[in-house]
Amino acid sequence: MRIEGKEYRTIWYENDVVKIIDQTKLPHKFIIKELKTVRDAINAIKIMEVRGAPLIGGTAAYGIVLAIQENNDQEFIKKNAENLIQSRPTAINLKWAVNRMMKKLSGINNDQILDVALKEAKEICNEDEKFCENIGLNGLKIIEEIYSKKKNTINILTHCNAGWLATINWGTATSPIYHAYKKGIPVHVWVDETRPRNQGANLTSYELNEEEIPNTIIADNTGGILMQRGEIDMCIVGTDRTLSTGDVCNKIGTYLKALAAYDNNVPFYVALPSSTIDWNIKDIKDIPIEERNSEELSHVEGVDENNEIKKVLVYPKKSKAMNIAFDVTPAKYVTGLITEKGICEASQSALKKMFNKK
Ligand code: MRU
Repeated sequence: MRIEGKEYRTIWYENDVVKIIDQTKLPHKFIIKELKTVRDAINAIKIMEVRGAPLIGGTAAYGIVLAIQENNDQEFIKKNAENLIQSRPTAINLKWAVNRMMKKLSGINNDQILDVALKEAKEICNEDEKFCENIGLNGLKIIEEIYSKKKNTINILTHCNAGWLATINWGTATSPIYHAYKKGIPVHVWVDETRPRNQGANLTSYELNEEEIPNTIIADNTGGILMQRGEIDMCIVGTDRTLSTGDVCNKIGTYLKALAAYDNNVPFYVALPSSTIDWNIKDIKDIPIEERNSEELSHVEGVDENNEIKKVLVYPKKSKAMNIAFDVTPAKYVTGLITEKGICEASQSALKKMFNKK
């Protein structure tokens, strides 16, 4: 998608280094950063220079490539595969991508291992781009249906950033929106600010602006009243891990939005590539939920009058704060799952049928 009119993907490999857009500096500064070692890749995931489940997966895949470039000893690669998996716990795409890379590399000799790894990392990213594009084409059908009845601007609420910046391209939740806009359907996006890291305000609104899609940032607690007023036609969110039961783990605050949508008969869709489905865990209590540093709550970042990025304390110095990063929306509150294969009910039987699982 575009930034200042130029097409980008979120991650690419060039001259033996991995290049990313440093998302900790957006929307104020657009900086392309080079990852040269597997440690750089792990750090980029940890401090959220890259974030969003599919992009974390893509970065981890390239992390394996960087590890091999440094040292193609099996023990070194295995140790760093584990370190990559540990770098953030909730988004399952991370483990999925590392396991896929390691499976591909098993039995490959030292002369070929780098080429094979690089090809597979590129394939993981290309596949994600294609899957997200298909999510968009499938989700477009829902927007078209609502538009055929309403015949007026479709107002869509989204939470966190599940846009192209969270994936390789297109995004998950935003892909149907980009496709609808390209087809000439008038859309407007209510963007949840998404405290504490403000992915909605800093990333979703930014990327929608760059694609000229009308959007308005709202405080996280505003969705309820907008739904009561009939100002939201549908919600679409992304997910970091969706269980085969249809329960959806996503950025903290998603659950409350789903409850409000349920109470107001607003359709609540979740957009995801199959790499985000956890086919093993059955109970939401077993999902590893990330708890991050409370400083993300107590301090806010922005630019000063000289366009310098500054961090300031906004809480009382003595107050404790708690920063749980994700929550789980039970399947019963989800209208449907928009995947690369089609749209299905959020249930084990529907997911198994769609993905041909026994
Ligand atoms: O903490 P983040 O920014 O990595 O969380 C991202 C989200 O919760 C996204 O909504 C999710 O990964 C879906 S990505 C297309």
